[in-house]
Amino acid sequence: MRLSVTDRCNFHCTYCNPKTGREITFIPHSQILSYEEMERLVRIFVSLGVGKVRLTGGEPLLRRDLVALVSQLRRIPGLKEIALTTNGSLLEEQALLLREAGLDRITVSLDSLNPERFKELMDTELPLAKVLRGIAVAQKIGLGPIKLNCVLQRGVNEEDVIPLADYARREGHILRFIEFMDAGTGNDWRLDRVVPSSEVARRIHEVWPIEQIPGAGNAVSQDWRYVDGCGEVGFIASVTQPFCQGCDRARISAEGRLYTCLFAHEGLSLRDEMRAGADDEALARRISTRWNIRDDRYSERRSELTERLPRIEMHHIGG
Ligand code: GTP
Ligand code: 5AD
Ligand code: SF4
Repeated sequence: MRLSVTDRCNFHCTYCNPKTGREITFIPHSQILSYEEMERLVRIFVSLGVGKVRLTGGEPLLRRDLVALVSQLRRIPGLKEIALTTNGSLLEEQALLLREAGLDRITVSLDSLNPERFKELMDTELPLAKVLRGIAVAQKIGLGPIKLNCVLQRGVNEEDVIPLADYARREGHILRFIEFMDAGTGNDWRLDRVVPSSEVARRIHEVWPIEQIPGAGNAVSQDWRYVDGCGEVGFIASVTQPFCQGCDRARISAEGRLYTCLFAHEGLSLRDEMRAGADDEALARRISTRWNIRDDRYSERRSELTERLPRIEMHHIGG
């Protein structure tokens, strides 16, 4: 289960939350789920079989007192793992408190190790060095193994493949390359800007031989390991090798809508049902009914879609 705790972000990554090309609006606070509402939803999802929750955004560390939410979630019996996906900008300050509250693991978005390119891509004044310090602190206090998400775009950050792999190998992080997706409405996505995972794997293999780990990975990522024993690298090939068939992620937006696909347009408002007084049992029924009838397969149908369908913005749904 992926739970977006805020739609706000202090970065404006060109592929997710660009400053141009669309109107930037934020959800008013009253429409965002409270921590009590989030805890209740997670508890219900756990009763339906969910074992892991991943907190996302926008940038989740921008939500005030996220530590309190993590502590609340930690007390839910049956919840095995609490993870977080962050842009790393506020990690240096918050990692220790989050760890103490019960956070298990983090994933950090990192698309370049070149300070200039980082600045351009993330469209932020915050320096790359601060993100790297945050990653180092998180590693030191036990939030590892840390996963690093890198979105590649043709002609933009292709040169970063080897330096990022080198850094991840040296530091003991798991780097994952994500194909640039046609998420949201403003990122100017084109198929010729996607760098296929197979090509990235080949380029890495030429420098450090890799082999696929038999039986590893999940519906989303293909996990490979370095033959020399220096860790793993993953590929999320959602454009060239769609995995809708095996997708098992339930996504809740910050305003409490349940989305059954990353590319969905409409979600079921669990917030409205909660605020209208639905009890836990009624909510659980609504969730499982919605889940059982889901038939989303946007990525598999991508090539046959003659016009692009309306979609939720990536920073509203958290990846
Ligand atoms: P774990 O590794 O499973 O702990 O979680 P993680 O969030 O680090 O990885 P996950 O595999 O859940 O997702 C990583 C990224 O893959 C997301 O941020 C998305 O960009 C992408 N992704 C995840 N699920 C889907 C999906 O259903 N469809 C598509 N197209 N992309 C997805
Ligand atoms: N294509 C691929 N990945 C994306 N992400 C955000 N937007 C896109 C996109 N258009 C990734 C980010 C982050 C994760 C939550 O989603 O890199 O790591
Ligand atoms: Fe913010 Fe993450 Fe989107 Fe970048 S990918 S703009 S860091 S929400």
